[in-house]
Amino acid sequence: MDCKLSNDFPFEVEILNTKDNPEIKDYLNDDQVSFARVGPKKFFFPSDFLSMAPSIYNMALRSDDTFVVTFPKSGTTMTQELVWIVCNNSDYEKAKSSPLNERFPFLELSSMVRKLSYTENEIEVLKKAMMPVSINEIEKMPSPRFIKSHLPLSLLPTSLLDQTKVVYVARDPRDVAVSYYYHDKLMNLSKPENDFKQYWKYFVSDNISFGPYFEHVLEAWEKRNHPNMLFLFYEEVTKDLPRAIQRVANFFGKTLSDDQVNKLADHLDFDNFKKNKSVNLEYLQENGIFRSDGAFIRKGKSGGWQDYFDEEMSAQADKWIARNLQGSDFRFPDC
Ligand code: A3P
Repeated sequence: MDCKLSNDFPFEVEILNTKDNPEIKDYLNDDQVSFARVGPKKFFFPSDFLSMAPSIYNMALRSDDTFVVTFPKSGTTMTQELVWIVCNNSDYEKAKSSPLNERFPFLELSSMVRKLSYTENEIEVLKKAMMPVSINEIEKMPSPRFIKSHLPLSLLPTSLLDQTKVVYVARDPRDVAVSYYYHDKLMNLSKPENDFKQYWKYFVSDNISFGPYFEHVLEAWEKRNHPNMLFLFYEEVTKDLPRAIQRVANFFGKTLSDDQVNKLADHLDFDNFKKNKSVNLEYLQENGIFRSDGAFIRKGKSGGWQDYFDEEMSAQADKWIARNLQGSDFRFPDC
């Protein structure tokens, strides 16, 4: 049954009981957790998100705020680091000595930590490691603030683009799905025996947090020409890092020398990034929150999905993409 959360949050929400939704229950490690669908596009979240949704939707913005907004697993972390370095006078000393999560916190993180999947101790480690964890703390952060969110634009404050700068990153949904599959495994959110084929079914049936994928991406695509929006593709950024760095610098009105661009490209290069303790979340593995096999900075490839899709899945994916792009001029880059 649909209900309204509060007068200042203009979306209907539908709470889904995991037990009564076998397609969700089969996938999860934890059938106590519940989920919700929000608004007319039915964005899918752990139901804990509902307690935070109105305060995020109504949060006070500042003109010097910067947001990186993405569907999960689209290259958010790399883009956050890129933006932060460009906007902070190439301060590598600070970038290396303080975790990215502190410099560039994840807005809705505290509602995404599925409480029932972890011990109390693990929750404490997780929260401490990912400070700040509440919207109150983010509201108190000094300016200029750098904020990461996986929320679709429609669930962020309505004046977001008029008041702040937003960098949105999109990635081929087939690579996103493979990356998300491994991410859920790494975090012990899904049953270890689940295979990718099953995961892909959840992905295209919109039972994955922050989905439906295309609703998320197309909302941002529609705003791509707004002067405060920079729309990037993971595939373009990784194919030509110096060019992406220049685009980001231009967007923020910064001038970088060739040396500065090359140094940043080297800093963001996948092999270096993977070893960078400020971004790779290794401490979550050391504290038993992530599984010991796997890594947060994993493969960093475009087109890796081809190793996971059989012919039938590829054909179905083509149709799913074509159906979702009908009537839109959105196209993935030819990289
Ligand atoms: P894969 O799992 O395909 O390797 P997010 O930061 O949004 O969670 O995205 C994670 C994805 O970006 C992962 O993809 C990760 O390996 C990749 N990634 C992270 N840093 C990268 C970098 N510097 N260069 C290329 N890919 C990177």
